[in-house]
Amino acid sequence: MRIAVANDHAAVELKSKIASYLKELGHEVVNYGTDETKSCDYPVYGEKVGRAVAAGEVDCGVLICGTGVGISIAANKVRGVRAAVCSDTATARLVKQHNNANIIAFGARIVGEELAKDIVKAYLDAEFMGDRHSKRVDMIHEIEMRRQ
Ligand code: RB5
Repeated sequence: MRIAVANDHAAVELKSKIASYLKELGHEVVNYGTDETKSCDYPVYGEKVGRAVAAGEVDCGVLICGTGVGISIAANKVRGVRAAVCSDTATARLVKQHNNANIIAFGARIVGEELAKDIVKAYLDAEFMGDRHSKRVDMIHEIEMRRQ
């Protein structure tokens, strides 16, 4: 798969480790930054990956900030994005199976490297289950389309 990764200053090191891990798994990684530890604004990076995912330039995205929350909120403002913050592998699997999340996010100040890798792997290995879940994901999209 072609996977976008991005982060703020809180997650430069973890993003680099996750990017290497994704490559080890055989994926193509598109890095949207930042690669500097100087303080920066996470919405910039959430939006970049959100737009890449929504445009179909990549298959999915991985976003990391201090908590995973700010950067995922920013990405979720892009129409078509379903970014989910996960701090455990069960949630990572379920956000794909039930919510068809197209971006997974987590916090570099919350999860360690090994758990972060397991979260990414659980997400990538899972498949959207469709059926009743499709209707609910469609309903989320309808809310987006009604948004002013
Ligand atoms: C940066 O200090 C921090 O606020 C950011 O990484 C993130 O945790 C926001 O949600």
